[in-house]
Amino acid sequence: IVTAGPTWEALDPVRGLTNHSSGRMGYALASALQDAGAAITLISGPAALHPPYGVNCIRITSAEEMAESVMANIATCDIFVGVAAVADYRPVVSAEQKIKKNSETLTLALVRNPDILAMVAALDNAPFTVGFAAETENVTSNAEKKLTAKGIDMIAANPVSGDNSAFNSDSNELTLIDKNGISHLSRCSKPLLAQKLTKEIARRYYETYPAKDS
Ligand code: PMT
Repeated sequence: IVTAGPTWEALDPVRGLTNHSSGRMGYALASALQDAGAAITLISGPAALHPPYGVNCIRITSAEEMAESVMANIATCDIFVGVAAVADYRPVVSAEQKIKKNSETLTLALVRNPDILAMVAALDNAPFTVGFAAETENVTSNAEKKLTAKGIDMIAANPVSGDNSAFNSDSNELTLIDKNGISHLSRCSKPLLAQKLTKEIARRYYETYPAKDS
């Protein structure tokens, strides 16, 4: 399973909370993993991209829908990669009708969304679990904290501020962290980076599960 794209947390029928994810990194990874022989389920938030040919693509909107779809498909999953930029919070209430501008200020109450990656990693018989970390500062140390806090096997961290932001661009770079240490995949196109990441995931997967034959 690969998750990709943003989520959309509705405030009312026409507005919502979201982010700059285009889906390009996740779709490229789904394609590279499929080329390497995996049967892929791509669970995608709103993205203006065609899924790679042959990939089973499930489109969702909100983080809760993504969590539901992941859990419905996780039983047969060997490798889970969370590339999606999932909203950490959603509005407590989504208004049924368009919110009117009746006052000078408007306060939104938000509630935490489920952490899909942590939920997957905590399962009995959890798949090999890979997270992404989108960071505006202290990329490596913040990603290390997420690796530990979410209990996952590996994390791929990328910068999301300034000229080198991974969001909505054609290229990216990744810092890979797992229990054995840190390595770096230098900046290149997302499809090429996805091929390099696929090799790194496959190597660690077969180190973790040596009995599973390639
Ligand atoms: O789509 P593009 O334009 O190509 O951009 C690619 C990208 C920047 C979106 C991608 O490379 C990336 O960094 N994805 C992760 C974005 C993110 O939400 O990072 P985070 O640090 O907030 O979350 C850490 C991890 O937890 C991620 O694997 C995320 O999918 C997961 N998560 C987060 C919150 C939540 N409620 N549930 C989750 O599973």
